[in-house]
Amino acid sequence: MIGINPYFARLRGGYLFAEIAKRTEEYRRLNPDKELIRLGIGDVTQPLVPEVIRAMHGAVDEMSREDTFRGYGPYYGYDFLVRAIIENDYAKRGVTVGEDEVFVNDGCKSDSSGILDLFSEETSIAVCDPVYPVYVDAAVMSGRGGVFDEKTEAFSRIDTLRCDAANGFLPIVPDADAPDAFRGLIFLCFPNNPTGKAIGREDLKAWVEYANRTDSVILYDSAYEAYISEDLPHSIFEIEGARTCAIELRSFSKTAGFTGVRCGYTVIPTELKRDGTRIRDLWARRQATHFNGVSYITQRAAEAVYSKVGKRQTEGVVRYYLENARVLRQGLSECGFKVNGGVNAPYLWVETPEKKASWAFFDELLEKHAIVVTPGSGFGAAGEGYFRITAFGSWENASKAILRLKAGDYAGNGRRG
Ligand SMILES: Cc1ncc(COP(=O)(O)O)c(C=O)c1O
Repeated sequence: MIGINPYFARLRGGYLFAEIAKRTEEYRRLNPDKELIRLGIGDVTQPLVPEVIRAMHGAVDEMSREDTFRGYGPYYGYDFLVRAIIENDYAKRGVTVGEDEVFVNDGCKSDSSGILDLFSEETSIAVCDPVYPVYVDAAVMSGRGGVFDEKTEAFSRIDTLRCDAANGFLPIVPDADAPDAFRGLIFLCFPNNPTGKAIGREDLKAWVEYANRTDSVILYDSAYEAYISEDLPHSIFEIEGARTCAIELRSFSKTAGFTGVRCGYTVIPTELKRDGTRIRDLWARRQATHFNGVSYITQRAAEAVYSKVGKRQTEGVVRYYLENARVLRQGLSECGFKVNGGVNAPYLWVETPEKKASWAFFDELLEKHAIVVTPGSGFGAAGEGYFRITAFGSWENASKAILRLKAGDYAGNGRRG
């Protein structure tokens, strides 16, 4: 017999960005002469830096000659890239990572869902609310979501860790001694998408201690690590004890504009074991089955990000986006909005005026100001009453959006709209 995976039917609603695109398209159709400012989707807009392009051209030339042509590469990444990652992202911060603990991938989205393959179907999942929706959808598709409760807007088998203004957008660490203490996979993402919140050492330490005490495993997504501008941990492995309870996901997407090139990596320490089995070994086996590696050209491009020139150039682009975030943060605050994030992250998480519903305010900004943002409710129940704005657009558009708001409903400090 053949049957369809029944869990797909449990996924919630349409995809957030498809709905945004639909409403935006409708607005364009009705207002063809209005110039839209898109501050919604979290994709980069600046081109790859020259040093990365140079490395890619060099690798393409190698592929054109018989003596330097490469076919299938190593499943887990070429040594030159793995060593550059260890040296620059870990050793320089005093963190020891072994070459057999790094798994180069095509960006961290695939691994953030694929990692579920390693754990039993009974494994419990905890995610923050609001959340990068991929973690939830992947859990649901793999049969670990349970059923959706319309009232609580939550899946019965997924624990949600609420992040709101009351806890400063940091999930509260549960009591490890409570009889019903959560034991399972905990997805943490810092700097956070969508809230833009980054985590400090003490708070991260508390999560590591909790995970070790409850035998939980933390999936630490630090796709936005490059945006940390204050004295905060860049890796969970800077925290003592993390090697026995954490997996780290990293990406070149937002660090170096690789959203279209596709490259990232996952770090799984050899000490991380559950049921007496090394998680790293399971992942190696899983990858060898599901994945044939990242192209040589892409890995040479990623290596170039770590060269002296490449680093200077990519850091320049990150600074450019952070400056956009600063312009948006200051401008929105002057307009009277309550703004979070945007200091250690390319995202700003903003309260809607008078606690308007996220989608209603999305429509209002579009109709009145031709500005596209992302409604907070698309990231979970706790996102209702917020919107996310990204700094990944151009500086001109960030400035223009603020001028438009100030010339419109949000003149000076007093809100009129
Ligand atoms: C929190 C988070 N994790 C992972 C990803 C996916 O990144 P990648 O392009 O490396 O697949 C994104 C992309 O927006 C993200 O926001």
